[in-house]
Amino acid sequence: MIKFSNVSVDYPYSEGLSNVNVEFKDKEFAFVLGPTGSGKSTLLRLIYMDIYPTNGRVDVKNWSSKKITARKIRKLRKNIGIVFQDFRLIQNLSVFENVALPLIINGYPRKYIKRKVEAILDEIGLLNSLRQKAGTLSKGEAQRVGIARAVVKNPFVILADEPTGNLDPDSSVTVFNLLRKINKLGTAVIMATHDYLLIKDAPNRRILMDNGKILKK
Ligand SMILES: Nc1ncnc2c1ncn2[C@@H]1O[C@H](COP(=O)(O)OP(=O)(O)OP(=O)(O)O)[C@@H](O)[C@H]1O
Ligand SMILES: [Mg+2]
Repeated sequence: MIKFSNVSVDYPYSEGLSNVNVEFKDKEFAFVLGPTGSGKSTLLRLIYMDIYPTNGRVDVKNWSSKKITARKIRKLRKNIGIVFQDFRLIQNLSVFENVALPLIINGYPRKYIKRKVEAILDEIGLLNSLRQKAGTLSKGEAQRVGIARAVVKNPFVILADEPTGNLDPDSSVTVFNLLRKINKLGTAVIMATHDYLLIKDAPNRRILMDNGKILKK
């Protein structure tokens, strides 16, 4: 589903990745672990083609970093859910509007949007907050909305970059369990994290990075 072949990324003052080879399979749940600056975010950004390899190639389904166009990147991102450490909700829009936005942008019918968004908000326990402005949510609630916005597109993969990095331990567990549930329903999840305590008993694959290299996959 996702394949890195001899991928290096040169940044202006440092090397982001150095000759990385790794594959992710359909429907898997993998952690990307490693110290700060080891290349975790760089790896995730390559998958949604926010950046390109300096050398090598990244293949995501039938899209290749070698020959993707701007139009195809939009298509690719319709099929990938992204969850950020800092949530990136639109503060003055409601919970409903934040989750609906990817569907509105992609021109889905209003009835479909209402049904789909309400079902997901029900799933994450925030149906009663659908009119609340995102800016007034607690951090744990905000991240649940961030996840809802990522899954509403029915993506084949969710990329989560330190999704619990700003959360207290209880909210972290809730958010992690939500990602596990989504994965059980058939969506791959790739989660970069520092939160070793949170994942200590999780049986998932662990990709260990250091200094732009993969030490273990
Ligand atoms: N936009 C950028 N411009 C220049 N250098 C960058 C950029 N992004 C990352 N780097 C450098 O690339 C290396 C890998 O960074 P990356 O953000 O991928 O690490 P990370 O593992 O996600 O770290 P963290 O745990 O702190 O989020 C670091 O040395 C970083 O300074
Ligand atoms: Mg990072």
